[in-house]
Amino acid sequence: MSEELKRQAAAMALATLQPGMRLGLGTGSTARHFVELLGEKVAAGFDCICVPTSEATARQAESLNIPLSDLDRLDRLDVTIDGADEIDPALNLIKGGGGALLREKIVAAASDAMVVIADSSKLVPVLGRFPLPIEVNRFGLGATRRAVAETIAAHGAEGGLRLREAAPGTPFVTDGGHLILDAFFGRISRPEALSRDLLDIAGVVQHGLFLKMCTTAYVAAPDGVKTLAVDPQ
Ligand code: A5P
Repeated sequence: MSEELKRQAAAMALATLQPGMRLGLGTGSTARHFVELLGEKVAAGFDCICVPTSEATARQAESLNIPLSDLDRLDRLDVTIDGADEIDPALNLIKGGGGALLREKIVAAASDAMVVIADSSKLVPVLGRFPLPIEVNRFGLGATRRAVAETIAAHGAEGGLRLREAAPGTPFVTDGGHLILDAFFGRISRPEALSRDLLDIAGVVQHGLFLKMCTTAYVAAPDGVKTLAVDPQ
């Protein structure tokens, strides 16, 4: 059921594309449906050029002969289509459950619009139920971890911090060669301040709060796909 809903949201986003668009391709199980559908559209002659947000998405897009480029050759993209782990009523997001948050944020920031596709389980009144991924440099992990722990405690994190693992005893490593600390909040009451405080820590590369970046979300529920929109900031 949930895969069918994700696919419906992806199909809705696909229907809005115009020929010749420069697209950011997201990462995760919902974005995977979008890339699959885009592959069918490209095979039928649709013209576009795409920048993937992860090695996994790049491999999938290549296998479907979707034309790929990068942000060295293209300075701006028209729209990025990506999934999310949480979506609040202002379309602020938590992302990075799949570990691709850094490239996802770089690509979304280089896009004129960010469209999120999701099933309705991702909607929350307040961000923070999903653990916030914080991407950190491997160097000085202990010091960075202590600084992050202090910061999230000051922001009311209820559940502490955990180094993400790929397997027991083996840390998860991102496409950029970094590590991820997952921060368990419960609720994030001041996301802008938390974002600034985390980015002030020297070893923090990026975090999964995507604030004021998404302007449209296609959210699929059993009774249909809803379009949620906010004014661009
Ligand atoms: C990848 O790092 C994430 O940001 C995903 O976009 C997010 O986790 C949503 O993934 P699903 O579509 O698999 O739920």
